[in-house]
Amino acid sequence: MEQVVILLLMLAGVTHVAETKCSHTQNTTLCSVPPGEPVFVQVINNASNHQVRCNKQLPSGSMKVFVLMKEKVTIYEPFRNRTEFFINNGTFKMTNLERNDSGQYIIEVFDSNGVFVKEMNIQLNVQEQAFPLLIPVCAGAGALLLLMLVLVSCCVCRHRKKSGSRI
Ligand SMILES: *[C@@H]1O[C@H](CO)[C@@H](O)[C@H](O)[C@H]1NC(C)=O
Ligand SMILES: *[C@@H]1O[C@H](CO)[C@@H](O)[C@H](O)[C@H]1NC(C)=O
Ligand SMILES: *[C@@H]1O[C@H](CO)[C@@H](O)[C@H](O)[C@H]1NC(C)=O
Ligand SMILES: *[C@@H]1O[C@H](CO)[C@@H](O)[C@H](O)[C@H]1NC(C)=O
Ligand SMILES: *[C@@H]1O[C@H](CO)[C@@H](O)[C@H](O)[C@H]1NC(C)=O
Repeated sequence: MEQVVILLLMLAGVTHVAETKCSHTQNTTLCSVPPGEPVFVQVINNASNHQVRCNKQLPSGSMKVFVLMKEKVTIYEPFRNRTEFFINNGTFKMTNLERNDSGQYIIEVFDSNGVFVKEMNIQLNVQEQAFPLLIPVCAGAGALLLLMLVLVSCCVCRHRKKSGSRI
């Protein structure tokens, strides 16, 4: 019985891990996201009265992602239908991420007069994470173990009953 309880606790612990997280270093934000999941990054508290430019860095140069100018957000292909920038809270959101969305994104913020305010460097890493893959494996192994424990205890019981009746 003890083993079963420990096993259940272990399974409960594992299922809590699957979550997208971005970590911030001095000038880079590192985001690891499983494919198909969204990513949210807050660039500035309030982007009203600001100009914002976001570009993805490619080996061949850079690619426009979106621009905020005069309170209007323009999103470029191939990001158009799955990218948003919320002016009210300065948050960048990209959904349905694919592996090839991985890479470095640079977001530059200027005030309404075009004076530089800040720059944000986002390193996006779209890949399968180890933990979500482990969950079904662990759950499967756990179920198998439970089944074996039940079978074994049944056998033991029956065996005991049998040998008991013999005496
Ligand atoms: C990030 O900061 C380090 C040291 O503070 C600097 O060497 C590096 O060039 C910076 N990178 C960018 C992209 O600003
Ligand atoms: C984007 O979405 C709109 C409506 O939701 C649709 O009409 C348009 O074809 C889509 N564009 C792309 C490139 O998927
Ligand atoms: C953002 O700033 C603008 C002007 O500076 C202000 O009108 C607006 O209420 C602010 N929005 C939020 C959500 O704070
Ligand atoms: C920013 O606003 C959008 C829509 O108004 C919301 O979906 C998002 O969660 C907000 N993000 C933050 C960090 O407040
Ligand atoms: C990424 O791959 C998808 C198909 O898997 C393709 O439709 C899309 O154009 C690619 N995006 C880029 C930026 O290469």
